[in-house]
Amino acid sequence: MGGGIFSNSVGHKLVMAVSGLFLVLFLLVHLSMNLTLVLNDVHLFGHHWAKGELFNTGAHFMISTPLIRLMEPLLAAGFIFHIVYATWLTVRNRRFRPVGYAVRSGNHLTSWSSKNMYILGAAILLFLVLHIWNFFYRFRYTEMPQTVVNGVTMDDSFTVVSALFEGSVIYCVIYMVAGLVLGLHLSHGFWSAFQTVGWNNVRWISRLRVISTIVAIAMGVGFAIIPLYFLVVR
Ligand code: HEM
Repeated sequence: MGGGIFSNSVGHKLVMAVSGLFLVLFLLVHLSMNLTLVLNDVHLFGHHWAKGELFNTGAHFMISTPLIRLMEPLLAAGFIFHIVYATWLTVRNRRFRPVGYAVRSGNHLTSWSSKNMYILGAAILLFLVLHIWNFFYRFRYTEMPQTVVNGVTMDDSFTVVSALFEGSVIYCVIYMVAGLVLGLHLSHGFWSAFQTVGWNNVRWISRLRVISTIVAIAMGVGFAIIPLYFLVVR
């Protein structure tokens, strides 16, 4: 192994932290945007928003803002990078450190979590293939129903999303499970990443545990609430 920054633990920390943070930031924006799916018939920003209007306005803003469209290939690259890098690290760790890194917290925990991370990650990847086909492909490459909100004609994205959930209990369950799997993946994600880089500082590891637990629960519950909402109101 050479001595470059990416072949030592500081390099791994940087790579995992940057790609992970980037994906978490996307997920936070994605979740905030998607939560407007459950805000129907509400008064907000001095406006009354009828069913679906808030989500459609948000989706319209996203799709018609060049800077946001520019983020798409970057986001895809971020996902691919995260997956490929995590695979490489997992294989490398198993080969070179079969007893694991985290002496302090027990080897079985580290290997259990790392095995789980891979299965959870693979499940998220499978979900993403289905998810991109369900929405992204549908929104971009097929003819969308139209609606008018506050005088502006736009795609009726809300109807497409609600039709999927209202038309299928199985999809609701798949999306709820995906939210929870994502939550689990994130709760171990911080751990796995920081243990891998050998950040064993006791004070920070406990802070990170709190932060990762809060982020993981917020994401898992947040995403799961949306299909649950459609399951209940249908
Ligand atoms: C209830 C849960 C979810 C709903 C309702 C939802 C909804 C959507 C919609 C409507 C789009 C299309 C946006 C567009 O093309 O303009 C989309 C795209 C996407 N979603 Fe989700 N999503 C959910 C959960 C997730 C989760 C858990 C992940 C990641 C693990 C995820 C990752 C993505 C990605 C990568 C895209 C493509 C990029 C983009 O268009 O922004 N989504 N989602």
